[in-house]
Order: sequence, then C-alpha cells, then structure tokens
Amino acid sequence: METSLAGKIALVTGGNSGIGRAAALALAEHGATVIVAARRQNESEAVVEQIRTAGGQAEFVQNDVAQARQVEDLVEGIVERHGRLDCAFNNAGTFKGGPVHEMSEEDWDEVCNINLKGVWLCMKYQVAQMLRQGDGVIVNNSSIYGISADANASAYCASKHGVSGLTRSVALEVADKNIRVNAVCPGFTRTPMTAAALDDEVDGARIIGLSPMKRVGQPAEIAAAVVWMCSDAASFVTGQTLSVDGGVIAGLTPNH
Ligand SMILES: NC(=O)c1ccc[n+]([C@@H]2O[C@H](COP(=O)([O-])OP(=O)(O)OC[C@H]3O[C@@H](n4cnc5c(N)ncnc54)[C@H](OP(=O)(O)O)[C@@H]3O)[C@@H](O)[C@H]2O)c1
Repeated sequence: METSLAGKIALVTGGNSGIGRAAALALAEHGATVIVAARRQNESEAVVEQIRTAGGQAEFVQNDVAQARQVEDLVEGIVERHGRLDCAFNNAGTFKGGPVHEMSEEDWDEVCNINLKGVWLCMKYQVAQMLRQGDGVIVNNSSIYGISADANASAYCASKHGVSGLTRSVALEVADKNIRVNAVCPGFTRTPMTAAALDDEVDGARIIGLSPMKRVGQPAEIAAAVVWMCSDAASFVTGQTLSVDGGVIAGLTPNH
C-alpha cells in the first residue's frame, strides 16, 4: 500500500532538530506540506529552507508545546491557512536526568510539562480538528523509556510512560472516527539530545552494550517509521507503541 503523503498537511512539533527534523524532511519528501513548530526560529527556518530547496513545501510556526494557548493557536492557524490537519507528529521533548533525590521540582515540572502535558495539549486540539474534518493520523514520540526504564531518569521515564498510555487511551476514543493514534518508541538515536552521553566513553559504551545491533539509531531510521505510521500503508494500525530500537526492547521485555 501507498506511503505517499501527497497533498497532506503535516505538523511536526520539535521539527527543527534531531528526530523531528528528520521526520519533517521525510514527510516533505513523501509529498506532505510540513509545518515545523518549535521555539527556536533560526534552526526551524533552516529546516524549512532545506525542504523548499529540495522542492517541497514547508513553513515555520514558533510554538511552545507546554503553553496551552500557543498549541490551540498553532492548530487553529494551520486550519485557517490550509483548511485541515491530516497528520501530526508530536515529537517535541526534553531530557533532564539525575538521581531522584537530587532532582529539583522545577526539572520535574519542565520535563513533564513538555514531554507529557505537551503531547496531551497537542492531541486535545488536533483531535478536535480531526473530528471536525472526519479523519486524521497522530504519531506521538514516546521512547523505549515509555515501555522500559533506566536509572537516573525518573521524570523522563514517567513522562514517556505517560505518552504511551495517552496514546493508547486516545486511540481507543477515536478508533471508530477514522482517526489513528500511535506512538513511535525510539531506542538511543544520535541527536543533540544524546550526543554528550554517546560521546562519553563510559556512557557511550554502556549504551552500545544495551543494543543487540551494537549501534545507535540515526534520526532518519525513526523518521521512516513515522512516515509509515502517517500513511495509508498503516491504515489498520492504531493504539500501538512501535519500538524502533535495534532490538533493545525485544531483549528486555519478551512478553510485551
Ligand atoms: N534521541 C534519542 O535517543 C531519543 C530516544 C527516544 C525518544 N526520543 C524523543 O525524541 C524526541 C526528539 O528528541 P531528539 O533526540 O530529536 O532531541 P533534540 O534534537 O534535542 O530535539 C528536541 C526538539 O524538541 C523541541 N522542543 C523542546 N522543548 C520544546 C517546547 N517546549 N516546545 C516546542 N518544541 C520543543 C526542540 O526545539 P526548540 O528547542 O527550538 O523548541 C527540538 O526541536 C523527544 O521527544 C525525545 O524524548 C529521543
């Protein structure tokens, strides 16, 4: 079945870096008009420029996913300009680690507000529009830490487990409304978020040691799964958390 997204309007939150950037490029390559939403302007405009130079269509909207009003305005603006919203990749995220007893409440709030509340806010306004138009596809960016866990990542793991649960719950709400909701669960992928850990001799070796493939992922490998889940090729797939992780989760939770 088709993975073409020709004529589709696709939103990528956090579309200016790492996995979100790769997804924005891949969605545009498959024919979608891509709305790159993020806080930093220069990085976002560079992605928009790259898509346009390659012959695709894209635009930047400055947005903080943790701010309800901004998310409402983001979706409303897309509908005003394009008439609809076909696909959304709710990808924006952040990481703050450390032992639970040393983590500040501010860091907990920041991680949960961006990673979890941000995805909930996005879906709240996206689903409302998709119900109005009668169809749509949402892909949330969870993580292998939305299925399994690691030490020193309490807020991140909690937020990503939340994203997996949100995904399943909302998928059930709208399954008979022609709206599909899934999550991608990347394993360690080389992006600005992970570069310091991967380049650290000890951390880097530990991370590679966890991977059956003995390597980390590239953002384009996660983006390929996002394109597939957004496309009609995945027309019977909803409520899933798809690990794209080089086999990490297969080894940790064989019954999952
Ligand atoms: N890399 C991995 O190994 C890995 C594994 C599993 C899951 N993930 C998930 O993948 C997603 C992307 O991460 P990445 O690795 O690609 O990291 P990244 O390169 O640091 O990208 C993070 C993106 O999120 C955006 N963002 C952060 N806070 C935001 C906010 N409040 N509002 C809007 N946008 C915001 C950033 O843009 P601005 O700062 O300009 O807003 C940036 O575009 C995250 O949800 C992450 O948890 C990553």
